[in-house]
Amino acid sequence: MPSHKPTIGILTGGGDCPGLNAVIRAAVKSALRLGYDCIGFLRGYEGLVDPVAYMPLDLHNTANILLQGGTILGSTNKGRFSALVGEGERVRIDPQLLSQAAATVRQLGVTGLICIGGDGSLAIAQQLHEHGIPVVGVPKTIDNDLSCTAFTFGFDSAVACATDALDRLHTTAASHERVMVLEVMGRHAGWIALHAGIAGGGDVILIPEIPWTFENVCQKVLDREREGRRFTLIVVAEGAHLPDGGLVHDKHGQHGAGGKEKRQVRLGGIGEIVAKEVAKRLDREVRALVLGHLQRGGTPTPFDRVLATQFGAHAVRLVHNGRFGEMVCYRPPEIESVLIAEAIRRLATVEPTSSAVQAARALGIGFGDGVEASPFAQ
Ligand code: F6P
Repeated sequence: MPSHKPTIGILTGGGDCPGLNAVIRAAVKSALRLGYDCIGFLRGYEGLVDPVAYMPLDLHNTANILLQGGTILGSTNKGRFSALVGEGERVRIDPQLLSQAAATVRQLGVTGLICIGGDGSLAIAQQLHEHGIPVVGVPKTIDNDLSCTAFTFGFDSAVACATDALDRLHTTAASHERVMVLEVMGRHAGWIALHAGIAGGGDVILIPEIPWTFENVCQKVLDREREGRRFTLIVVAEGAHLPDGGLVHDKHGQHGAGGKEKRQVRLGGIGEIVAKEVAKRLDREVRALVLGHLQRGGTPTPFDRVLATQFGAHAVRLVHNGRFGEMVCYRPPEIESVLIAEAIRRLATVEPTSSAVQAARALGIGFGDGVEASPFAQ
């Protein structure tokens, strides 16, 4: 039944991450205070089309979800709406689906649709917007690879998880004088590896943005041994390229399995390769651990709760002010907005000369590229 009040629709698309529920809660609480009704579409964009699936959102069913991981609305990065083909290449969504979604929005009296998602989901949001649907975007992803925002929510929680893993690996690696490799997520950006590597005292950080070699990684292990440090922690991003330029992925696993032409590889496995190669070259015991989806689960950190809350409230403000086609973003210290089209133009990756990389190098952390920075390098 369509509501008599103006209604805000909310959906969560793509891979989940901590903080999605915090956005939903904030949006609902602030929308209700402005006199809107709220509904949540289920399973991402799928809920907009046949069979249409949604639930009313109110103060009761959004109570106590601030600290809950995942999304009470469900999400999917597969199915009929899939905005990526291959790596980074976008597809057009079937115009019939877009028209169906527009009809649903009209019939339910939705005056603003808040789409919470990463680059793929926001690329879909942009297409809905171009089809006349009043859309506002909220950037989410543990990968932190969306442009125009300093941080996406979910990233800090993923870094906290990876840092905790490194803290635990540290003590056992030191006790057994082992080289240990931790593989973290992040797709084609090295943000999680870089931040967790620094926060967790990693010795070598391998990321997609900085080419590296096995010789340099092994040299770092040997250098540390010469300094009396008989263990080494290596953090490797799942999307780090092998020295020959290759990506390591599951040949059978694909995202966006909505049609055989819609493919995105499932990254993973580089940690094991690094461990085996270092073990072979140095004749040492090397162990690898893939952190995987632990990084996407669990309760959001306080930073992510605050960011998600600000994003949710600001998204409602954008709807209220008719600022459709825009995405909320964090430009410290303020929450602002940009065109979704601008935000999805390119991925945000780690700048190899950034201050975080320089600080890491100044401490002696290696990036496998053989560059040794003086602690006083500019
Ligand atoms: O984009 C978030 C992310 O967790 C990536 O870091 C990772 O490569 C991918 O999603 C995994 O997706 P799935 O859970 O569908 O395998």
